[in-house]
Formats: sequence, C-alpha cells, structure tokens
Amino acid sequence: MGPDERSLLLDAFDSNWIAPLGPHVDAFEREFCETVGVPHAAALSSGTEALHLALLMLGIGAMDEVLVSTLTFAASANVVAYVGATPAFIDSNRETWNMDPGLLEEELAACARRGKLPKAVIVVDLYGQCADYDPILEACARYGVPVIEDAAEALGANYKGKPAGSFGAAAVFSFNGNKIITTSGGGMFVSSDRFLVERARHLATQARDPAPHYEHSEIGYNYRMSNLLAAVGRGQLRVLRDRVSRKREIFHFYQRALGDLPGASFMPIAVYGEPNYWLTCILVDPARFGATREEIRLALEAENIESRPLWKPMHLQPVFKDCKVRGGSVSEGIFRDGLCLPSGTALIDVELERVADIIRAACRGMHQNL
Ligand SMILES: Cc1ncc(COP(=O)(O)O)c(C=O)c1O
Repeated sequence: MGPDERSLLLDAFDSNWIAPLGPHVDAFEREFCETVGVPHAAALSSGTEALHLALLMLGIGAMDEVLVSTLTFAASANVVAYVGATPAFIDSNRETWNMDPGLLEEELAACARRGKLPKAVIVVDLYGQCADYDPILEACARYGVPVIEDAAEALGANYKGKPAGSFGAAAVFSFNGNKIITTSGGGMFVSSDRFLVERARHLATQARDPAPHYEHSEIGYNYRMSNLLAAVGRGQLRVLRDRVSRKREIFHFYQRALGDLPGASFMPIAVYGEPNYWLTCILVDPARFGATREEIRLALEAENIESRPLWKPMHLQPVFKDCKVRGGSVSEGIFRDGLCLPSGTALIDVELERVADIIRAACRGMHQNL
C-alpha cells in the first residue's frame, strides 16, 4: 500500500460513508473501466461472488452442466455448485497452460451428440495469462453456449491487444490480498452489456426494488463492496501499470537466473498477448534437474522462503471426484512438476537472488559443474 491508498482510505473514513455503497464505490467502478478498458463494472466484495452472479444471470441452475478449466483455483468451480449445477472439466494445453480449445470443441461436439449442451463455459486466465479466446469463442458461438471469463488473476493482461476481462458474456476480477492489486478482499463484475452489470449491482444489493420502503421481487445477495475498500482500490489502480512492469521484471530475472538449469522451464508466454506475470511459475523435470519440485519447495522453506505448488486440477480434487473431465494429463503434469516462485512486487533484487541461489544449489546437488 502507498500514500494514495492511505489518503483515499482516510477520505472515505472521514466522510463517514462506512457502508457497502458510496462515492468511492462509484468512482472505483468508473476509474476501473477507464484504467482497464472495459465498458461497465460493478464492484463486489469478492471475485467468487462476481462468478456466482454471472451464473445466476445466465439462468444456470439445478440439472445444468457448466464446463470449467480444470487447472484453476477452486472458486471457479465452486460457484457452479452454488447454483445447483454440475461442473465438467476441460484440460489445459501445454502451449499456454490454459483451457485447450481443441478439447473444448470435442466436448461441445460430444455434448451436442448426446443432445444436452452445457449452459456456460467458465474460461480461466491462468496465472495472469489470457486463454486463447479466438478459437474458444468461435466454438462456443457455434454451439450457442455463453462464455464467462474468470480473469481473477489476469488484471492488466491482454489478448491480441484487448484487455483481459473483454471476452465472453461477462468477466470477473479479484482483489483478494494475493492479487496484483488488492482491496484486502474484493471483486469486479464486468461486461459490455450495461444491462447485465446493472442487474449484477441490483442482485448484489439484496435485490432491493426502487421504493421508499423495503420491497423485494426476487432473491438478492449482500455482495457489494465497502466504500472504505473501494477507496483503497482507487489508489491501487494508480499503481497497476507499475505492478505489471515489476512482475514482468521478476519473471525475466528468474528466467535469466534459472533458465539454463537442466530440466527447468517456465510457464510458456503465448505469442497472442501479454500476461500480467502475476506469479512466476516453473516446471521441474526431476530426472534432468536432479530434484523434484517438492524438494525445491522444502529447500526454500528451510530458508524461511515460501513457494507453492501450482493449482491442483479440479478433476483431482476429492470434492469434484465424480465430475467429468476431458483430457487431464497436461494439467496433472503441470501440477506434479510445477512451482510458483516468490513473485511479490515488494521483493528486492537481493531477495530474488537468494531464491535463485537456493534453487541453483538444489540442482547443483546433481550437476557438479553448475
Ligand atoms: C482463478 C480464480 N478465480 C476466482 C478467484 C476468487 O476470487 P476471490 O478470492 O476474490 O473470491 C480466484 C482467487 O482468489 C482465482 O484465482
């Protein structure tokens, strides 16, 4: 957090607008659209809620099926269960680690043959890199299935020059504490359809109808963002560009420091766009590297440095064990061999060097000449 966040937060505090609405919420939505390049936005108290509202607005409910990228955080799939529908998972491809458009196409064709299409596809922009939207949107349009873009991790990224959050019927962002910018907890529902965003705002405000008394014609939710947190978000938006460039530097630092190690590789950067480099992720082939990703993680932990395995694919999660999956081996391999390296923008170069030295030492155990 910087001085702008502090002064905006104090401004919100001093104004006494301590509520899940207020001038900072309105301004945050407006400035978010300007900064990110999306047309309409509703500020909510989490990205998960934004996904939940997206499903509700597409009318998804019991007995419906929703296709979801398997390599993601649980929230992308949990929301499908919130509305009583069932997720079915699509594997990643090796080129982007995102949903494989070919497998999606196969699954849609198989669903069409069975006579029951999914009601939506939730496409995740993994670790800050957009999925390959041209073939994904083309396949979904052919079958008339709407897309929801889960851009929770991808604020500031682009696909063929269009910002993350521009694809599909609606898109969501997260401002959770671990994201590229944060409001401690928070989310944004965005769409090019003004009506959808207005409806999201309505449902998120307990679906209160315009009347002097409390009138409700449908079930609503208490999902709006606090005015205090929106003030923090406005300050964070001002540093988004700097955050992305520091994240890019961190990625390139690790690439230079570790790129020559046998059996180590990085999340591939697709030619179609520019990620926000949210987390730098590596894959480790233990046979060539001389250590597993878990041994590297433990070597870092022994030095009080936190790193984490990549998302465990949803089709391997006990809670989704009965759900369908198309493919699976690519995300399983990425999970088995992948490690998210410390990527916080507050890290200074000597700290990054310490991380790299420990990883190089783990490799040197096997390769004496490194
Ligand atoms: C891909 C993805 N989707 C959804 C979410 C949920 O966002 P939130 O934590 O704001 O509810 C997250 C992260 O937290 C995420 O990484």
